[in-house]
Amino acid sequence: MTLKKVPGRFITFEGIEGCGKSTQTRLLADYLSSRGLKVLVTREPGGTRLGEAIRKLLLDPANAGRIDPRVELLLYLASRQQLLAEVIIPARAAGKIVLCDRYEDATLAYQGAGRGLGMEKIRRLLKFLPLRVQPDLTLLFDLDPAEGFRRIRKAKKTLDRFEREKLDFHRKVRAGYLRIARAEKKRVKVINAALPVKEVYRQVVKIASQTLSSNLTR
Ligand SMILES: Nc1ncnc2c1ncn2[C@@H]1O[C@H](COP(=O)(O)OP(=O)(O)OP(=O)(O)O)[C@@H](O)[C@H]1O
Ligand SMILES: [Mg+2]
Repeated sequence: MTLKKVPGRFITFEGIEGCGKSTQTRLLADYLSSRGLKVLVTREPGGTRLGEAIRKLLLDPANAGRIDPRVELLLYLASRQQLLAEVIIPARAAGKIVLCDRYEDATLAYQGAGRGLGMEKIRRLLKFLPLRVQPDLTLLFDLDPAEGFRRIRKAKKTLDRFEREKLDFHRKVRAGYLRIARAEKKRVKVINAALPVKEVYRQVVKIASQTLSSNLTR
């Protein structure tokens, strides 16, 4: 594979809580770095000083029921605009492969489908934002929310504001994600996240490598 010549690319990792986004982001970053590629890993919300401050507000359980869903939406967008300006756009311009743990699809799935603000409404809103970069590839780790919860409870002592939402909320989020995948088959690849880490990783590497090499001839 001629991965060495890959120019700056943008891959996003999506899915419900506990589906394995962070695990797979790290594994793919290690894989690509070990092949001599320049990789930058970041996450949402956060990834910048301002974004991490917004992340704290958004995930703080003390804010449960105290952030209007429309304001929640705007906080995510603010964090993302800063991340694009400060991190994603410069890194891509420098030829790096940017791996982002959550991105725009999370806004559509969580605030659009989960909170019920409407996916299409948010899609229209996104078009007005000053900074936008379309991912070259989005990996959607599809998992039953009940299993996601089992994993998180096993791994963590305290749950954040979203992890405290009811199962029904997470079912809506999952359905929202799958709706995006059906509409954008070329960009969004669905991976069965119920499989063991190693098997999920094998698929991640296969799909990411295909995208990275096919982009060479674009
Ligand atoms: N395929 C898998 N099978 C079983 N356990 C897994 C798998 N992938 C990840 N895990 C475990 O599940 C937990 C959650 O994984 P991880 O943090 O990667 O998920 P996440 O999608 O980033 O979650 P969050 O949305 O909360 O950030 C971790 O303890 C991780 O080790
Ligand atoms: Mg994570």
